[in-house]
Amino acid sequence: MPAEPAAAFPIARTCPYAPHKEHVRLQQEAPVTRVTLPSGSDAWVIARHSDIRRVLADARFSSNRGRPEFPRVGVQDGELAAQPEAALPKVMLAMDAPEHGVARRAVLGEFTHRRMAELKPRIQEIVDEQIDAMLAGPRPVDLVRALALPVPSLVICELLGVPFEDHDFFQTRSALVVKQGEGPEATENAQSAMQELTGYLDSLLKAKEKNLTDDLLSRQILQQREANGSVDRADLVGLSFLLLVAGHETTANMIALGALQLSQDANARTAILHDPDKAAPAVEELLRYFTIAEHVLARVATEDVELGDQIIRAGDGVLALSNVANRDPQVFTDPDAFDIERGARNHLAFGHGPHQCLGQNLARLELQVVFDTLLRRIPDLRSAVPVEQLSFKADTLAYGIHELPVTW
Ligand code: HEM
Repeated sequence: MPAEPAAAFPIARTCPYAPHKEHVRLQQEAPVTRVTLPSGSDAWVIARHSDIRRVLADARFSSNRGRPEFPRVGVQDGELAAQPEAALPKVMLAMDAPEHGVARRAVLGEFTHRRMAELKPRIQEIVDEQIDAMLAGPRPVDLVRALALPVPSLVICELLGVPFEDHDFFQTRSALVVKQGEGPEATENAQSAMQELTGYLDSLLKAKEKNLTDDLLSRQILQQREANGSVDRADLVGLSFLLLVAGHETTANMIALGALQLSQDANARTAILHDPDKAAPAVEELLRYFTIAEHVLARVATEDVELGDQIIRAGDGVLALSNVANRDPQVFTDPDAFDIERGARNHLAFGHGPHQCLGQNLARLELQVVFDTLLRRIPDLRSAVPVEQLSFKADTLAYGIHELPVTW
């Protein structure tokens, strides 16, 4: 069947709590559809939970972001890719099998449930310190700056063995890397932020090679020395760059959105306060409900593949609408309702298949500790301004809130 005429994509959310209704309509009426991206090139958008799982688990779809056909949602992203000197460091996110498996297995042991249990007391301490500072300071306070950004930033710095004094530097640079601004200025900013970050990480790794400490990067150095007799610094710059950027803005956005949502839902709040075990299912529901990594799941077909009643041709780009799929009525009953008792872990907020989020156990743990502690220590936390006045992010790879003034 011939492809439908291309529609413009993406359409930003108009309601902060739901995907745009035009994207929802696609799931019902054209679940595999052709769209035109801001860069002017075409790609397929897929919107059904089952199709997305199929594509993300299928080795005929490549994650190689270096391919010119790779679909990019931001104009700036497209421009970056067109400039060889701005090439991203080599990261597992953009690798295919078998290279991807090797890179992922090298670091998998750092994100097991056991490692997370070891990290929990320190995460609790970090969260308590930030909330102490909030309680001691003036009201209203911006929850994004006071809690949402510093918690994941402190945790990832500590995990990697990056001095926390430098966290401001990371926060600003990684925010620029994931920003989807338009025009040459945004491109230049993202490009120089990326270069500054990789330059910094290169010097840091050089220092660690001389003086190993007890952290993820030192263990990677040791592992490489034992396996190969040498260290591939470019490889470790790529790994640390990816972990810093991937583990930072995403979790921060979820903290801010989750705090806002829970502050507005008295039932969920009471349930978590009475039973701290409810924090885990609440986090799962928040992940599904907001699906913040909404423009991240992209692939290129390497062979012709039949999907629904369309043929995706080799070389075609595919974008997975995980936020719409996470409200697929075939999978989730009453999908637009926020229900912490839902118990659904089959959402696609962390993707699916071989690239499924490596840091998901860490993200879950941080979010559980944050919401459990925040509700216990500031039970009457609320937005200091009406929700309509909040500025939600429409210009980044991950959905979130720019600023969340709160009071109690
Ligand atoms: C991959 C979302 C937190 C590290 C992914 C993917 C998604 C995602 C959707 C799949 C991308 C794809 O298939 O192309 C999220 C969300 C987070 C979060 C929503 C927070 C709520 C973290 C954290 C870390 C992390 C805390 C690490 C410290 C990674 C890495 C990958 C990844 C390394 C690439 C995995 C691979 O290619 O094998 N994430 N992430 N993420 N994430 Fe996360």
